Amino acid sequence: MKVNVILSPNNVEDLYFTGKTTVVIDVLRATSVILKAFDAGAKEVIPVGSIDFAMKFSVNAHGGHTLLCGERNTQKIDGFDLGNSPAEYTEEKIKGKSVILFTTNGSKAIVKAKYSEKVFVASFNNLSAMAEHLLKINTDIEIITSGANGVFCLEDTICAGALIKKMLKQNPNLDVTDATRAALVLEEKFGSDIKEMMLNCEHGKLLIQNGFDKDIDFCSTVDNIPLIPVFSGGEIKLWQADNEENSTK
Ligand code: MLT
Repeated sequence: MKVNVILSPNNVEDLYFTGKTTVVIDVLRATSVILKAFDAGAKEVIPVGSIDFAMKFSVNAHGGHTLLCGERNTQKIDGFDLGNSPAEYTEEKIKGKSVILFTTNGSKAIVKAKYSEKVFVASFNNLSAMAEHLLKINTDIEIITSGANGVFCLEDTICAGALIKKMLKQNPNLDVTDATRAALVLEEKFGSDIKEMMLNCEHGKLLIQNGFDKDIDFCSTVDNIPLIPVFSGGEIKLWQADNEENSTK
């Protein structure tokens, strides 16, 4: 079982993912928000690659059951129902709803991986559950760290390193690439205090500057939502653990 980390989605073409099993990480904040949405009872999350597409999609969406959500430059977009703060995704607002999600990097990275056989969504919130799940399916894995506008970012790479470290504990024979080894080294260096690391990384500082300090508490919490979201056929739904079939089928 080989595990590779793609340190920026811009490093590869969309077709690179054809037939692969991919994990997308954008801990500040898109993939953490997706976990929160499912924890609050979202029916599905539909990641989109542009605001225009989000708007068009929501016009055709089933009335009242769809929310238009996400951010541009960390802020809620005009005309959208919710921004990209986990705290906004409460049961009251989200339960039973379809969430159309546009974000600057995370939703785009998920859409980019669309040709994969399977695309899983990971953050610190589902770290152990995801590590166990990946070991169980026992196939080669590509982990995309969404980064920032095509550029490497520390927090996603540390999360990838933490995920692989957990997997290596149970299977020391994983085949790791150079990028995977780099993620492991960075996790050793910065992963002992995740909140501190997030407070000091570039995007963490921007979130604090824009008044989103509280989001870092949620996004740095480990294993509080042991769910496995999977993207298939344009929608993210929850993996059905009981029969190893995903719920989108
Ligand atoms: C992204 O996709 O770039 C983010 O989730 C940005 C954010 O909401 O902070």
